[in-house]
Amino acid sequence: MSAPQVLSLPGVSPTLAAALADGMGRVDALLRSTIDHDDPYVAAASGHLLAAGGKRFRPTLTLLAAQVCRGVTEEVIAAAVGVELTHLASLYHDDVMDEATVRRGVPSVNTAYDNTTAILVGDLLFGKASEIVAGLGAEAVLIQAQTFVRLCYGQIRDTRPCPPQVDPIDYYLGVLADKTGALVATAAHYGAMFGGGSPETVEVLRVYGERLGMAFQLADDIIDIASDGSASGKTPGTDLREGVDTLAVLFAKASTDPADARLQALLRSDLTDDDLHDEALALLRAHPALERARAHTRDVGAQALDALAGLADSDAKTALVALIDQVVDRVG
Ligand code: IPE
Ligand code: IPE
Ligand code: MG
Ligand code: MG
Repeated sequence: MSAPQVLSLPGVSPTLAAALADGMGRVDALLRSTIDHDDPYVAAASGHLLAAGGKRFRPTLTLLAAQVCRGVTEEVIAAAVGVELTHLASLYHDDVMDEATVRRGVPSVNTAYDNTTAILVGDLLFGKASEIVAGLGAEAVLIQAQTFVRLCYGQIRDTRPCPPQVDPIDYYLGVLADKTGALVATAAHYGAMFGGGSPETVEVLRVYGERLGMAFQLADDIIDIASDGSASGKTPGTDLREGVDTLAVLFAKASTDPADARLQALLRSDLTDDDLHDEALALLRAHPALERARAHTRDVGAQALDALAGLADSDAKTALVALIDQVVDRVG
């Protein structure tokens, strides 16, 4: 867990890096003051994950999108905080759903406290996000509401089996667009909107954000299989244990190679059993399905790049381009 890596991207000029660092300092200060609470229990529980770190990927994107336009304003900072708080709250709830024990390298809120606290403090943080966004006007509130509906609908489908008449890969990609693409799109959308972008530029950045968010979640799902947890600050194999079929698993399940029979049998079994889980994870790590999932992630990254085609050259655009590779290749 470290500061936003975009600050050290090769394409980022010292001037842009300084503007982003300044913006992120303001975002962090507003995040901290917003979630502070008179009740020490609430203050500690709502500050638990914020204090632990996080990449601040979404507010970084909001700042960068604003830099593509006229630059960072007070409203851009508030919008970035609204997005990060929405994300933060969704992590409180996600770890309850996924029975995750580690987040941002520390015990998850459901583990350090309990499920009830994680759910209610998560709700409180959603409320705080809405308070901040309310100060940005009715259009921003509508965007946040629609984003939140998509995020929740994605999370609902994430826990549900793919309906029989639906292609599992289409189902998975739809879930991913809603649970993650929507909020990353809004991060970029707000940055352009409150950074004074034209309606065309706002739309370019919204579409870029949606595709970048898809690539971000595809990479996250690969990390869940391939990483050892030290870079991600999360427990590897959580999706397998919870029975959430991510792209590499769907590719492996669809294989007709007889050599895949053992892996396929494991993928049909209850992987809360530690030995079966470890065996399935080891087989998946060595399986070509993982490389196919990586190739798909790169394709979605290329679609994010296409979205930027109409944008005039600038330092900030160079950074948005470099950010795609960073998202696609990330290991944590
Ligand atoms: C985790 O998001 C949830 C996903 C949508 C993959 P991040 O990877 O941005 O989490 P933090 O904020 O850095 O902890
Ligand atoms: C998280 O999805 C999506 C949201 C929090 C909306 P995951 O369950 O895949 O994310 P991680 O791996 O726990 O961060
Ligand atoms: Mg999870
Ligand atoms: Mg989840």
